[in-house]
Amino acid sequence: MDSKKYELEINSAKNLVELSELEIKFLGRNGLINDLLSKIKDIPNDEKREYGQKVNELKTEIKKYIEIKKLNVSKQISEEFFDKTMPGKAYPKGSLHIVSLAIEEITKIFEKIGFIRVSYPEVDWEYGAFESLNMPANHPARDDVETSFIDVLAHSTLGKMVLTPHTSNGQNREMKRVGKPPIRMINISKCYRPNWDTTHTPMFHQFEGLCVDKEISIVNLKGTLDYFAEKYFGAGTKTRLRPHHFQFTEPSFEVDISCNNCQGTAKINGVKCKVCKSGWLELGGTGMVHPNVLKEGGIDPSTSSGWAFGFGIERVIMMKYGLDDIRNYYSGDIRFLEQF
Ligand code: FA5
Repeated sequence: MDSKKYELEINSAKNLVELSELEIKFLGRNGLINDLLSKIKDIPNDEKREYGQKVNELKTEIKKYIEIKKLNVSKQISEEFFDKTMPGKAYPKGSLHIVSLAIEEITKIFEKIGFIRVSYPEVDWEYGAFESLNMPANHPARDDVETSFIDVLAHSTLGKMVLTPHTSNGQNREMKRVGKPPIRMINISKCYRPNWDTTHTPMFHQFEGLCVDKEISIVNLKGTLDYFAEKYFGAGTKTRLRPHHFQFTEPSFEVDISCNNCQGTAKINGVKCKVCKSGWLELGGTGMVHPNVLKEGGIDPSTSSGWAFGFGIERVIMMKYGLDDIRNYYSGDIRFLEQF
């Protein structure tokens, strides 16, 4: 049984359809091999064994030829139809999230005046989030900031593990990292508080400035806030400080910026400005670093002083673009996000 003529026939198939027709012709139920096997009854008994072996060998050969031909035809098809010169499919491009863009912008503004960008942990011990900031256990000021605790074994000296409610936990870490003044830190990180409304989300970002050196005063703080407000919100934006209370700064303030919608006048064409109502918008908290916080960071408050501030990233974006619902940032709605 010469398999060569079948090989020639199989190789002459022009495409996969012709090849599968040949496969049926040779290997199918009514095909060549089964036909040859059915004739075994007419073969003399002493030749039956040899005849059967030969038919099986032929079957194996034909199967092999068909497989090889299938591979060749498929390769040929993909070569014929793959035009390397065709331009690729253009998929829609992603872009940086509105919060990432603001982080880049804020980092650049502060780097220009010598602040070093750091990112301290968003999961910390109670010591970093509270004790190091002059807020000992059971201090009522801790109730001001609702905190999420992590369900792990408490540290013997650093307390329970928390999702940090603010970036102020970076202050003590930065003082210890740098060792001695001068310190100029901009700490940007995620924070967590159990709130959900048009101006609050459970996860948000803060940027925390810390400046410690000899003879640092509120004048330096006001100058830096004015510089940031002009660069981020636009020329002519003013800042003002209102007395407030934070346990880790003394004196403490809330910072407001003048509203760009009404240029700080609270009115547009004689009608109350809808964005601010008063000519001012609240930015966040600030103050002179409390001597106890400096001491806890290993810095002598009799020779050095400093200021700190903490502002919400989502909040400054809202103020800059006049947005009215912070929750849109995290809705994943591309129609909102692609505007930035
Ligand atoms: C603080 O967090 C202080 N640690 C700030 C500070 C730092 C004061 C250094 C003094 C010295 P406050 O709780 O006010 O302060 O939060 C600051 C800003 O974080 C707010 O003005 C707001 O913009 C933002 N923020 C607070 N909670 C949320 C929230 N749930 N969602 C979005 N932004 C928030």
